[in-house]
Amino acid sequence: MKDHYGRKINYMRLSITDLCNLRCVYCMPEEGVEKHAHTKNLSFEEMLDLIKAGVALGIDKVRLTGGEPLVRHGIVDLVREIGMIPEIKDLTMTTNGILLPKYAKELKKAGLTRVNISLDTFDPDKYHQITRWGHIEDVLAGIEAAKEVGMHPIKINTVLIKGFNDDEIGSFVNFTKDHEVDIRFIELMPLGESIGFAENKYLSNDEVLRQVPELQSVIELDKSGPAIYYRLPGAKGKVGLINPISKHFCKECNRIRVTSDGKIKPCLHSDFEIDIVALRKEGKSYEEIVKQAVGEKPEQHHIDENEKQLLRNMNEIGG
Ligand code: GTP
Ligand code: 5AD
Ligand code: SF4
Repeated sequence: MKDHYGRKINYMRLSITDLCNLRCVYCMPEEGVEKHAHTKNLSFEEMLDLIKAGVALGIDKVRLTGGEPLVRHGIVDLVREIGMIPEIKDLTMTTNGILLPKYAKELKKAGLTRVNISLDTFDPDKYHQITRWGHIEDVLAGIEAAKEVGMHPIKINTVLIKGFNDDEIGSFVNFTKDHEVDIRFIELMPLGESIGFAENKYLSNDEVLRQVPELQSVIELDKSGPAIYYRLPGAKGKVGLINPISKHFCKECNRIRVTSDGKIKPCLHSDFEIDIVALRKEGKSYEEIVKQAVGEKPEQHHIDENEKQLLRNMNEIGG
């Protein structure tokens, strides 16, 4: 399936809940979010119908996100159902990792290929501060659990925050020397909760290359995801840079997003959304709805040039 700008759209990201067991300061307000009425979330049946329609049109990569996807009841059953769709080559999840010790084995068995785990610092006190109450031992145990069940590759998402973790860039990069995990630095994006937080805390990922000049040549341009990868000589893992602000990757964008309350977002940084439930009530099929979303995908985002910024928080969109 191609959009108006000739981009092949094969990646569907679904935020399956906006609830989370942490409260990262750039993502969610401290008080959390009101639990949706059950009817506001898409049901698993609706999600499966939507995914199958996407697959019929060329989707072969599916990512479950949140909030924290592992807090939604029945998550393993959902993974199992999606895992049975043969056309899906990559079935993945973005998680904070806290519940992986409990679920990794079942998820792997149900067909989850791999996980991306969020970790912004190696310092227990700073981890507690950025997540408002998280314990770093839990996420480290989560990474181990994912490794033990053979999920591969494991990717760590690290949001680069000036004055918070720019002094740990070296430690994160060095971590890839002995660990078979990829560390990906993400530029802080101003949307929802993070608009105020991000003021004066944004740092371009060029800072990583400045601090670690050994990361010289790009080894991989993974067209299926947003990161550009480098590797320290002899290191087991890679270092990825996700640069939505400094060098946006809209030209290569291959994805559509589904929010936790059932809207398709053709672009992360646009307020334009397509209401799945309303269109279903009008009699549209899931295939027609997916086609409409892809047809309305903008050429690129303008958050770097334009003051207008997204109102939704990341926990409803899923990153
Ligand atoms: P891989 O397939 O493993 O490469 O995963 P991914 O990077 O697509 O997924 P993940 O959920 O781990 O996303 C990592 C970060 O990249 C998150 O902060 C996302 O918000 C950001 N990101 C992913 N896709 C886009 C995009 O289309 N636009 C922007 N601006 N950011 C994105
Ligand atoms: N800017 C950049 N990354 C963010 N994430 C959440 N909010 C933001 C933001 N404002 C990251 C999380 C997670 C991924 C899905 O998105 O840390 O790793
Ligand atoms: Fe939860 Fe992820 Fe948001 Fe942190 S960034 S509060 S772990 S959804």
